Amino acid sequence: MKITVIGTGYVGLVSGVCFSDLGNHVTCVDNNPAKLDILKQHKVPFYEPGLEERLVRSAVAGRLTFTDSIDAAIQDSEIIFSAVGTPQTADGSADLTAVYAVAHAVCKAYKELGCNTHKVYVNKSTVPVGTGDIIAGIRDDYGLTQDQLSILSNPEFLREGTAVYDFYHPDRIVLGSSCEKALSKCSELYDPLYRSDTPIVKTTLKTAELSKYASNAFLATKISFINEMSNLCELTGSDVKDLAKIMGMDGRIGRYFLHPGPGYGGSCFPKDTQAIIHTADQLGYDLKVVKAVEAVNERQKLHIMTHLTAVFSSLQGKTIALLGLAFKPNTDDTRDASALVIIDALLAAGATVRAFDPEVPYLPEIKSDQVMYATDSYDAVTGADAVLLVTEWNMFRELDLTRLKSEMKQPYFFDLRNVYAPEKLEQAGFTAYVIGRQLIETTIAADT
Ligand code: UDX
Repeated sequence: MKITVIGTGYVGLVSGVCFSDLGNHVTCVDNNPAKLDILKQHKVPFYEPGLEERLVRSAVAGRLTFTDSIDAAIQDSEIIFSAVGTPQTADGSADLTAVYAVAHAVCKAYKELGCNTHKVYVNKSTVPVGTGDIIAGIRDDYGLTQDQLSILSNPEFLREGTAVYDFYHPDRIVLGSSCEKALSKCSELYDPLYRSDTPIVKTTLKTAELSKYASNAFLATKISFINEMSNLCELTGSDVKDLAKIMGMDGRIGRYFLHPGPGYGGSCFPKDTQAIIHTADQLGYDLKVVKAVEAVNERQKLHIMTHLTAVFSSLQGKTIALLGLAFKPNTDDTRDASALVIIDALLAAGATVRAFDPEVPYLPEIKSDQVMYATDSYDAVTGADAVLLVTEWNMFRELDLTRLKSEMKQPYFFDLRNVYAPEKLEQAGFTAYVIGRQLIETTIAADT
């Protein structure tokens, strides 16, 4: 099939590359010349495992091209994906400027090119309920009909770091439209993914749009819930790892997304929870659960500060090392990363911060002279009073703990991701905090 993908950000590029990998002819459109330059050299402008080799393969085979021209791209395409960004505005709502600009550009091009075949306009960006109907209105204003350009919503559920895997192994593919022809054309595109049992759900435009927000809000709820249980474990002397295991063995609860940590971050959960709250507020409905989920998440990002200040009566002049800056492993993304909030709090308390992340060389959000960026984990902890394991990169799972301790001024290890068993840290000579499992006895804490 010939398809166009407009927007080569995270979602657009992963989708475009993977569709071309399945044998389709894909044209990716972007209006950013710098990004296009990189893509035309067959490079991926961000870190995502498995993406670049597929990009190269399809581009070399002639199935994947990059352009800045919507007109040239849509002429022969049967399906046009819009995957442009929907950044958050000050009031928490999604900024739809690019979404509507693309809708106008595609309708205009369809008309001016004199296209006469049926095309499907697929919105893949995360947009508030009702956006698809507004796009249908834009199409009508151009004098085009559903038989010429039908509108369909196909939200993405790709996780950063495993996006290529997720593309090929989706739990479900959601297609929302009132046009049967559009629904069957898009099903056909996704068919090769699951030959025997394609998990495609066909529904209305509005339900498809809401499904993305509802899913992300629910996942965020699971995280905030287990974070609260973890805090309760700390207060009661229970073990959150066992607790999550026991809860997860109940099929109705499920074992995923029950890992406590320093709060969720990234480009989706913080933005999507805000956006769904905003949608509900606009309709006069108080979305209480999701509001609480957000509040718990904000509190959780600073939870570690309570423990640090219990151990060190003052952080003034202390050196704190962070292992991990990205909001999760296998990505260089630091959007809404908990590390940013923790670093701000440490700096405000007078601490010196050293940090290492295998894919984040530095944080543009924080003044360059305020954090010392190390070359590896051992360099990061040199002279440190405490080390915080913030992101659970695989390389932090197999640290040489004895060597790590020997580089430090004081042996305080704070595991914010439940990577290490408390006994293992203690055997290496650390005084250890492990989230939801083990606290540091403040009575034995040194404050040298
Ligand atoms: C998420 C959704 O999973 C995906 O379906 C959606 O399309 C985009 O948003 P992503 O943001 O890439 O994907 O990452 P995810 O793996 O879901 O993690 C999000 C955040 O939650 C991370 O900060 C992670 O550390 C945190 N998290 C996740 C936890 O703290 N505990 C968990 O159990 C799971």
